[in-house]
Amino acid sequence: MPPPVRRITLEREPYVAPPRAAGATAQAPANGRLRAVRAPSTQVRQRMAIEGVWLAYGENWVVRDVSLPVRQGEVLALIGASGSGKTTLLRSLNRLTEVTAGAARSGRVSLDGEEIHELEVNALRRRVSMVFQQPNPFPMSIYDNVAYALVESPRHGGRRRRRTPELELAVADALRRAGLYDEVASDLERSALRLSGGQQQRLCIARALAAEPEVLLLDEPCSALDPISTATIEKLIVELRETVAIVIVTHNLQQAFRVADHVAFMHLGELVEYGSSEQVFDRPSQQRTRDYVSGAFG
Ligand SMILES: Nc1ncnc2c1ncn2[C@@H]1O[C@H](COP(=O)(O)OP(=O)(O)O)[C@@H](O)[C@H]1O
Ligand SMILES: [Mg+2]
Repeated sequence: MPPPVRRITLEREPYVAPPRAAGATAQAPANGRLRAVRAPSTQVRQRMAIEGVWLAYGENWVVRDVSLPVRQGEVLALIGASGSGKTTLLRSLNRLTEVTAGAARSGRVSLDGEEIHELEVNALRRRVSMVFQQPNPFPMSIYDNVAYALVESPRHGGRRRRRTPELELAVADALRRAGLYDEVASDLERSALRLSGGQQQRLCIARALAAEPEVLLLDEPCSALDPISTATIEKLIVELRETVAIVIVTHNLQQAFRVADHVAFMHLGELVEYGSSEQVFDRPSQQRTRDYVSGAFG
């Protein structure tokens, strides 16, 4: 009698890991934390500069004299306790803080050397795109969510055009880049609101990517998601950093360790420490950083 055959059904094709690039450093530090194996980015280039930035709501300065580089080819993670000013700093990078009445800023933020307050705000927000904590797809089809972002972009003439082959290809491409295409390709007319939370968040990332941003801002993008969707998005973030500069706010230190190349630790509006992910997590130079990260890894 032959042994029973056990079938393991995979949701998706097994992922074939690329060969490790020469010079890639060991990915499992001494204390055994695991990090996805990844080749170093081929090209690292500074895109934004945050220089001596202060941000206030009314009289209350909640970001104090922060300076940081934002580089393409890298993921920058902003970490720190709730209320430390991470979201405020992130939102200032595409001038969303100025939407809040009474908000004030001093210091300089530039994109490719140009002060962002001198750029036209809609053009800036196309170049520096934001994904929020709660997935917020538009109440329309999957296809239209992405097509909307495309037709609004000047590259497609800023005109609403449905279902041209060119637009269809661009929608599929954005969905592919966000790691969602295979799951939704069979029915792009389905309402986006019927997707799972993890799929909705990847759709929001696809929508953000459709406008071909140069910088992608993610504010706790996985906090409402299950571990499998989180893993999918983390893998995506690491892949995207080749072509888009990424800044992610996360309260999940393990996540920061998994995805970030550089980490900025904020406390009560101040930047306490900035360094490579390995340095900040394994050899923090500040006592406050040590106290904060030791909670995550024990
Ligand atoms: N719209 C707002 N109006 C007034 N104060 C705010 C507003 N948003 C945030 N704050 C305050 O600014 C500080 C920093 O908040 P935030 O940037 O959201 O921190 P984090 O993202 O690190 O939790 C907090 O003290 C918060 O209460
Ligand atoms: Mg926040």
